[in-house]
Amino acid sequence: MAGAAGERAVEAHGLVRRFGPVTALAGLTFGVGAGELYGLVGPDGAGKTTAIRALAGLIDLDAGAARILGLDPARDGRVRERLGLMPQQYSLYRDLTVGENLRFFGRLSVLPRAVFRERSERLLAITRLAPFVDRRADQLSGGMYKKLALACALLHQPEVLLLDEPTNGVDPVSRRELWELLHEFVAAGMAVVLSTPYMDEAERCHRVGLAHRGRLLLEGPPAALLADFERAGHPAPTFEALFVAAIEGAAP
Ligand SMILES: Nc1ncnc2c1ncn2[C@@H]1O[C@H](COP(=O)(O)OP(=O)(O)O)[C@@H](O)[C@H]1O
Ligand SMILES: [Mg+2]
Repeated sequence: MAGAAGERAVEAHGLVRRFGPVTALAGLTFGVGAGELYGLVGPDGAGKTTAIRALAGLIDLDAGAARILGLDPARDGRVRERLGLMPQQYSLYRDLTVGENLRFFGRLSVLPRAVFRERSERLLAITRLAPFVDRRADQLSGGMYKKLALACALLHQPEVLLLDEPTNGVDPVSRRELWELLHEFVAAGMAVVLSTPYMDEAERCHRVGLAHRGRLLLEGPPAALLADFERAGHPAPTFEALFVAAIEGAAP
């Protein structure tokens, strides 16, 4: 279900958040629609995690507003059942098996037994974790662990999904699988915000925001950003080079 007309599934309006002398968010603004995969791309310290925590309603803001499906995530309890979150340090129960973790997280969102069974079977199938259902979480590879975390975050079928560096510490094959999975969910209408420090992952998003020091330097569809950069006189442009140029104020 979409929000009110013209409303985007995810809205960050001029988010400001300070931690003592550090300004983690300095007026961050972006919006994401249903069926869109938005990448918040930036180096360590850019403010990605703080932005995702603000969108999830987990921290207070000094200024600005976060909205999920038109609702205030910090104050409106209705957001909970419509939002999925995969934090950077996703805590599964390491001494529980794959299946037990799913059951635990299914219970948290109070799913009827039949609904849980159907969804968990589907998620196990698409994450290809079905053969490992009895393996303990602490015996999974980094990529499998992230896929299980993703499955747990998707059990309640959220309309909006926030993922903080989901591909960090994941091998290239699992990384590609994770991206394919996300694109499947986005194609079904989910709005996804994903943060990553990897510039090369920008191209896998519908739109990206290049974040630096708590605000966006550039935003747009990846191909358009690279084309503008090339027109500005940078042959064979890469996001890495674009980012460096943007920081130096030399980007178009
Ligand atoms: N709880 C906190 N206390 C103090 N400083 C913080 C806290 N959270 C984040 N910061 C600071 O805010 C800045 C942005 O951090 P963060 O949002 O974690 O960036 P990123 O996820 O892009 O690496 C960093 O300088 C970080 O040290
Ligand atoms: Mg972070």
